[in-house]
Amino acid sequence: MFSQLPKPVLDPIISLSVAYRNDPRDNKVDLGIGVYRNSQGETPIMKAVQQAQDVVVEHQKSKAYVGLAGCEEFNQSMIDLLLKGTSAESRVSAVQTPGASGALRMLGDLMKVAQPETTVWISNPSYVNHKPVMEAAGLKVKYYSYFSTETKQVDTARMLEDLSHAGPKDVVLLHGCCHNPTGADIDFSAWQEITKLSQQNGFTPFVDIAYQGFGDGLEEDAKGLQFMADNVEEMLITTSCSKNFGLYRERTGAAIVIGNNQDEANNAKGKILTLARSTYTMPPDHGAALVKTILQDETLTLTWKQELSEMQQRLLSLRQTLCSELRNTHNTSQFDFIENHKGMFTVLGFTQEQMAQLREEYGIYGVGDGRINIAGLSESHIPFVAQAINAVAK
Ligand SMILES: Cc1ncc(COP(=O)(O)O)c(C=O)c1O
Repeated sequence: MFSQLPKPVLDPIISLSVAYRNDPRDNKVDLGIGVYRNSQGETPIMKAVQQAQDVVVEHQKSKAYVGLAGCEEFNQSMIDLLLKGTSAESRVSAVQTPGASGALRMLGDLMKVAQPETTVWISNPSYVNHKPVMEAAGLKVKYYSYFSTETKQVDTARMLEDLSHAGPKDVVLLHGCCHNPTGADIDFSAWQEITKLSQQNGFTPFVDIAYQGFGDGLEEDAKGLQFMADNVEEMLITTSCSKNFGLYRERTGAAIVIGNNQDEANNAKGKILTLARSTYTMPPDHGAALVKTILQDETLTLTWKQELSEMQQRLLSLRQTLCSELRNTHNTSQFDFIENHKGMFTVLGFTQEQMAQLREEYGIYGVGDGRINIAGLSESHIPFVAQAINAVAK
């Protein structure tokens, strides 16, 4: 059975981590894999999570199965974090999933059942797993223009022109904030324009929000998504607790469906549960139990919001320091865009060869498509990294 299988090809980001680990240089810098790091280069357990863990361990009396939808209080918390105060609150349902990755696949499977001819439009470029997951669900995938390699910002005019061709059988996948990999986000007026196009042409918006709180703040990061949810009949959302609760390995996320009315949203949820039953049956419990514990407790919520805001501020400060080092020491404003990007990632606009040069000559590991993880920097690395970026750019 297995003799015909080709040798597996490692995911580029995973093989980058292996190469980094095997690099003997002391001054190597890992700007590859997308995890948040503090100034000591660690990905710590957040204080609010640690405290919630004590509460969960003390109070949990059973490891019996939870339902197919996971923890319903967690599901409601995810709806509240994203949609509180919008008209969508009365026509929405949510299912806890194994990370946003699980949510992406469940919503992909849902679309395949509800509308088999769906084409999913994704940004060019997009999160490396968007295309494989949608294709694995049996859907067609098409790209819309997104990033300008000249300005290093979103090319809104071209994006809107492409999206003006999306119709009723199409789903347009957007990043809620902190676009992965580019770091370039659409502004509020672009959210309004895309909403208008969806109303006019009938496509369904699908928002993947994996970094809420890492861009402009917890509430600010959901503003575009909320405007859209208020103004469209149907919408899909995937959300993740990997980054903003630091729960990566606990696989905690949710799939959210907004329908024309509550009945339709409930029917969609019922279908997702059937699909989940034949896939993984039910999501792991621990991460969602922690998030629920935090969000149901005022003091823990405050602690969490404070920590999240410190993480966001740290990213901002690293961006500013790297830019000013390039500007002041190396006399170049070529990289000023880094300061305007949001979240953990920035695309430098380097070729594969330039990224290889950064890796081979300087031991600086970014992804081959030019993406670097700002959170992988520490203040002490910045002069060296700025010098390398400047040298490679020449
Ligand atoms: C845009 C985007 N969506 C989804 C995910 C998947 O996150 P999770 O760890 O919750 O599966 C990621 C993770 O990097 C991401 O960047």
